[in-house]
Amino acid sequence: MKVAVLGAAGGIGQALSLLLKTQLPAGSELSLYDVAPVVPGVAVDLSHIPTDVKVQGFGKDDLASALVGSDIVLIPAGVPRKPGMDRSDLFNMNAGIVKNLVEGIADNCPDACIGIITNPVNTTVPIAREVLKQRGCYNKNKLFGVTTLDVIRSEAFVAELRGLNPANVTVPVIGGHSGTTILPLLSQVEGVSFTDEEIKALTHRIQNAGTEVVEAKAGGGSATLSMGQAAARFCLSLVKALEGQSVVECTYVDGGSEHAEFFAQPVRLGKGGVEEVLPYGEISAFEKQCMNDMLEGLKGDIQKGIDFVS
Ligand SMILES: NC(=O)c1ccc[n+]([C@@H]2O[C@H](COP(=O)([O-])OP(=O)(O)OC[C@H]3O[C@@H](n4cnc5c(N)ncnc54)[C@H](O)[C@@H]3O)[C@@H](O)[C@H]2O)c1
Repeated sequence: MKVAVLGAAGGIGQALSLLLKTQLPAGSELSLYDVAPVVPGVAVDLSHIPTDVKVQGFGKDDLASALVGSDIVLIPAGVPRKPGMDRSDLFNMNAGIVKNLVEGIADNCPDACIGIITNPVNTTVPIAREVLKQRGCYNKNKLFGVTTLDVIRSEAFVAELRGLNPANVTVPVIGGHSGTTILPLLSQVEGVSFTDEEIKALTHRIQNAGTEVVEAKAGGGSATLSMGQAAARFCLSLVKALEGQSVVECTYVDGGSEHAEFFAQPVRLGKGGVEEVLPYGEISAFEKQCMNDMLEGLKGDIQKGIDFVS
């Protein structure tokens, strides 16, 4: 299994690469690409960890070599939020970065599964689709917006509130990855019930958890360590799936939803990437209201990405 991380020298990229170096199956290759000159050093640093995962670093002019033969490409390249910024404020800086990197994927490893982490995810994933379509190599089963951070935050916050072991808590999160488009299905958490006030407060906290980190870091960036963990979880699930196991993760994918062209919901992953977009089941009246309120914004975010490429 060869995994490429584009933006590997950044806050997320380094945390993610460390987790993959220690957790990818023996015999895997980890390819680290970044425009920052420190990236070969990050690769050397990781290569001193004694696991059977080969790490190589690639600088600015070596995107093709970084990508050739990749089974999975993860993209955390780009600019993170500062206090007072919304994820959509990152569009001007990050749209072009994602477009260029996905063009590189189309040219060098068109069959790879692609996990987009760069914000605004609601928009950068449609950008990736349009680029791949233009290059004639789009496979909707292999393009993912990584929304796993919303899932792990929900699990952590529910466990904290009820004094549970987070390992035993599962919370599906559907919709998109920005503000009110993040919709945790708290009505579906097994064995736990909440008052209406708790549901409102928890939903609000999950939707604004990224801002909680941005403000706490006071200008020093956004979530990197929890995002590294979330992306590693998603990548390792994808690795298992490509090796033939059936795994379910919530992720932002094309098709499979009556609500919007791209939508996050539980997806069964397998050898070909998306095997089946699963129904998200019964939702509460509160969740239905949240869903109705978010759809126009989500559709606007998607259209912005399509317009950017065309
Ligand atoms: N999906 C999510 O849940 C989620 C969560 C947190 C952050 N993010 C997003 O992830 C992105 C990265 O965040 P970060 O905190 O790691 O930022 P960072 O600034 O620490 O790292 C970004 C890295 O990308 C590199 N980079 C910039 N342009 C590049 C290019 N063209 N090719 C390759 N590398 C390039 C930079 O050199 C840097 O090393 C941001 O857009 C942030 O908003 C997403």
